[in-house]
Amino acid sequence: MYCVPVTSPDAIDWDELRARARAATRRAYAPYSHVRVGAAGLSEHGTIVEGSNVENASLGLTLCAECSLASDLARQGGGRLVAVAVVAGDGEPIAPCGRCRQVLYEFGGAELWLDAGEGAAPRRLGELLPHAFGPGDVESRRDA
Ligand code: THU
Repeated sequence: MYCVPVTSPDAIDWDELRARARAATRRAYAPYSHVRVGAAGLSEHGTIVEGSNVENASLGLTLCAECSLASDLARQGGGRLVAVAVVAGDGEPIAPCGRCRQVLYEFGGAELWLDAGEGAAPRRLGELLPHAFGPGDVESRRDA
């Protein structure tokens, strides 16, 4: 259990997150692309949240696994995301798409740790989505 934000990626159980993400690929709905994606994230409260991609006959309406994870985070009580692993059906990490980087930024910010696979150093989301637009910009840039 983590009850404070994790600052070092060494403190994160990446094997557990990867295992949960791999399990989530088995609950994906991907009849069009046949690319199953699973995501697992650790919240600041120590909760593990999960997501799977859910495709749609109107292909542009597809929900990525990370969007599904964001819903699960809210459903399980919310809080900040500390670390996330995203894998495809082969069990190996995949790079979150651009939209999902923004979705993850909302809940983890630039500090969020992202899995880069076994033996590879985890990366901060700020590295994948530099100079991001976030909640603070909405707050500070709205009309007076
Ligand atoms: N996909 C995700 O779930 N997350 C990503 O970050 C990249 C793409 C899904 C969407 C679609 O169902 C399938 O992968 C192929 O693009």
